[in-house]
Amino acid sequence: MTFDTIIRGGTVATASDTFQCDVGIAGGKIAALGADLGAAKEIVDARGRLVLPGGIDSHVHLSQPSAPGIVMADDFASGTKAAAFGGNTMVLPFAMQQKGESLREVVKQYHAKADGQCYVDVSFHLIIADATERVLGQELPALVNDGYTSFKVFMTYEGLALSDMEMLNVMSVARETGALVMVHAENYDAIRFLTDRLERAGKTAPHYHAASRPIAVEREATHRAISLSEIVDVPIMVVHVSNREAMEEIRRAQQRGLKIYGETCPQYLVLTEQDLQGLNMEGTKYVCSPPPRDKASQQACWEGMQQGVFSLYSSDHCPFKYDDPHGKLAPKGRTSFRWVPNGIPGVETRLPILFSEGVGKGRITLNEFVALTATNHAKTYGLYPKKGTIAVGSDADIAIWDPKREVTISQSLMHGGCDYTPYEGIKVTGWPVSTLVRGQFVVRDGELAGKPGSGAYVPREKSPLAVPRARSAWE
Ligand code: URP
Ligand code: ZN
Ligand code: ZN
Repeated sequence: MTFDTIIRGGTVATASDTFQCDVGIAGGKIAALGADLGAAKEIVDARGRLVLPGGIDSHVHLSQPSAPGIVMADDFASGTKAAAFGGNTMVLPFAMQQKGESLREVVKQYHAKADGQCYVDVSFHLIIADATERVLGQELPALVNDGYTSFKVFMTYEGLALSDMEMLNVMSVARETGALVMVHAENYDAIRFLTDRLERAGKTAPHYHAASRPIAVEREATHRAISLSEIVDVPIMVVHVSNREAMEEIRRAQQRGLKIYGETCPQYLVLTEQDLQGLNMEGTKYVCSPPPRDKASQQACWEGMQQGVFSLYSSDHCPFKYDDPHGKLAPKGRTSFRWVPNGIPGVETRLPILFSEGVGKGRITLNEFVALTATNHAKTYGLYPKKGTIAVGSDADIAIWDPKREVTISQSLMHGGCDYTPYEGIKVTGWPVSTLVRGQFVVRDGELAGKPGSGAYVPREKSPLAVPRARSAWE
């Protein structure tokens, strides 16, 4: 057989094994693994390199509308280009419903934004902001059937927060349709109460964002989300967990046999609340929710990954420019932290940070790295084994890494639409040098090789994790 490409001489790692072998690619798929595979149109020399499944970042925000006057820094072209340079072959952004909108229409709009623009493969989660009877009874079941098999619900944010009743209704539809619910767990009323009190006391600088969302806010909502999911008997994924207390809520639920899953992100491993204290308004560069905490919380998030409480490590890439009238400092005249758009960029730096801080410093194995960054995302969101592994028959979604390259993270190295990185100055060892999506180079030796349209939309199967434990009380 003549392959399109053979990646020769590298060290291949999956979520379970590490081995020396060549990878034969034909028709966009991995066609053979082994030695002496024979002829190919192109031989890629991977000696001294790691050959890993391309990262799947299952939590990114692209082209999402925000408050009036504020514009997200990445569209599907710039965000997926940055993803490719960061060693990712697929991202899962959100199609976000706003109050009064039809979910089906929203999905159409996001397809229009993404079609022909993407450098890596994409698939959408849905954000449910308006849990009307029509959405619950008709649109959601039909959309799950069409491959939109996961939805996010928010317990906070103006215009997005669902009541407990609405959460229960959405969870119930997830149970009936086999979809997976992702939960943003923060107590909205508590945040509003604290924000009002802080503002009344004149405490409006960016770092008070963290004071307005203390750990108790996240812990309480995490506990409540778990309780609601237990009542409905439906699995949930608690996203962007930032601290020990929330992590322990998830661990306890798992130990009780509940199907509760957890995700953490780089900002909770390497940033702290201190970063929000920058001079002038620099702290806005780190405003995200939940906020980065302290060193003890970082340690808890590492433990959560090491002990399997968290199965996913995602970026929660949600970029707003800093030095821009539509970014972190808009809208003008509104100086309180309350108005700073929540979210930070991270799709390009997610993998090097975990590789260096995790694998490089002996906190996790290379195989755990692959699981946390690719394989578990594919398994969780109905993409496995098409995506997320290096195996015969899987899509040839591959990142080739130089495990020894030393890089100081800097905005000058970034390829997305944002004008800063919150990880500026962090030194890492290990960097993705080439990224192939379905066998085609999108990044080759650090240079762009793909184009808008190199990435495609991928409908998903139902998550194998989203299976209830038993019949519910009312069935
Ligand atoms: O601050 C954050 N995380 N913004 C992104 C939206 C979300 O809640 O994931
Ligand atoms: Zn969220
Ligand atoms: Zn998010």
